[in-house]
Amino acid sequence: MNDQKYIFAAALVLLSLNTSALVAQSKEPPPSQMIFFLESIKKLQPFMISDEAFKDPTNEKKIQAELDKLKEVSKSLSHEKRIAKPGVKDAALKVQSHFSELADAFPLSKAYSRYLLHATLDGCGSCHSQVRGSEKPLFNFDAKDLAGTPFQKGEFLFAVRQYPQAIKQYEEVLNKADIIDQRRAALERGLVVYLRHFKDFDSAETWIRSFSKKRPDHASYSQPYLDDLKALKKSKFPYVQKSNSKEVENFAKNSCQTQNGFVNRVFASGLLHDYLENRRQKNEAVKPVIYYWVGKCDASLQSSYIFSLTNLMFEHCIDLAGKSSQGEKCFEEVESQIVLGFTGSSGVHLPEDQISKLNALRKKVGLKAKHYPVNKEE
Ligand code: HEC
Repeated sequence: MNDQKYIFAAALVLLSLNTSALVAQSKEPPPSQMIFFLESIKKLQPFMISDEAFKDPTNEKKIQAELDKLKEVSKSLSHEKRIAKPGVKDAALKVQSHFSELADAFPLSKAYSRYLLHATLDGCGSCHSQVRGSEKPLFNFDAKDLAGTPFQKGEFLFAVRQYPQAIKQYEEVLNKADIIDQRRAALERGLVVYLRHFKDFDSAETWIRSFSKKRPDHASYSQPYLDDLKALKKSKFPYVQKSNSKEVENFAKNSCQTQNGFVNRVFASGLLHDYLENRRQKNEAVKPVIYYWVGKCDASLQSSYIFSLTNLMFEHCIDLAGKSSQGEKCFEEVESQIVLGFTGSSGVHLPEDQISKLNALRKKVGLKAKHYPVNKEE
């Protein structure tokens, strides 16, 4: 099916969706591709959460069909007016190559494609975090209809922009005594919503306090987040519209170090993305060092390394910095992320295309080509 047909068919799907899933709002509808994304991701969700189901040969056709659909639909993203904005366009290109790689990898390697599938939700989320969405989502679906644990449901809802519903799932994790290992992740996801998307310190604080009250055992690990929130509220941070690049650079450098608390990094990441967006819209140059710090900030927050706009930040840095020590520094970040992404119990195994990519980047920053260990899996 070509792009236009997809867009036309999207209208039909929209009309035929069951009404409980669709609450009519008088607002501009989301880009037509989102309806397909949502449908496919919904169908893929049970396979995201189960390795067995994903690898089961009887599911292969079903999964491949959805992956192909995602690949096709994402190709038309670049025609979409609302996605033509500079920052969002980066995410669109990244999603296109991600879906293409995913659909093509599935017949060849289940392990690798499952890895990519997981990263897909981050892909949806990373673009959505850059578009100021409406408060009331167009789609409402019940967490009851989703498979998996509360945390897995939360991740899904987060990816499709149902932030309040996602928060409810994270709350469930936090309110249950038996899922201790996920509670830090759930708490931090909630903070991503409050600090990165809504930039709302007070609600973040109220939210954390609400658990500490119900469950005193939370206090031991939630207190540092509360302390950081308090400090952040008092601190000075630059305004994206007015600050000069030196101020922003200093802010980025001070906030994005890994030894900083999560609260600082997540808030800084949101602010810095707003800054990049703002400068790009005005066609103003951004220093490579700022891309470097944004990449560092995001890398420390991301749940998955493969889908990352993080690497895109470092790649922007490389393009601007070229053969220089800053360029090399940014290359080292890309390299370590990719290598980390492909490190398993049996060592490092890089797919060929990743090796070519790394060597192309090496050339840009003036480093000699290198022999990386190749992936010969499955
Ligand atoms: C390149 C950017 C981009 C990517 C990638 C992206 N989206 Fe979107 N999405 C948008 C924009 C823009 C909107 C409209 C926001 C608005 O108007 O509130 C949107 C809205 C949506 C909505 C409607 C939410 C609402 O508020 O009503 C859903 C559902 C959705 N996207 C699903 C997905 C899924 C699933 C993926 C990943 C497979 C995805 N999107 C990836 C840009 C993107």
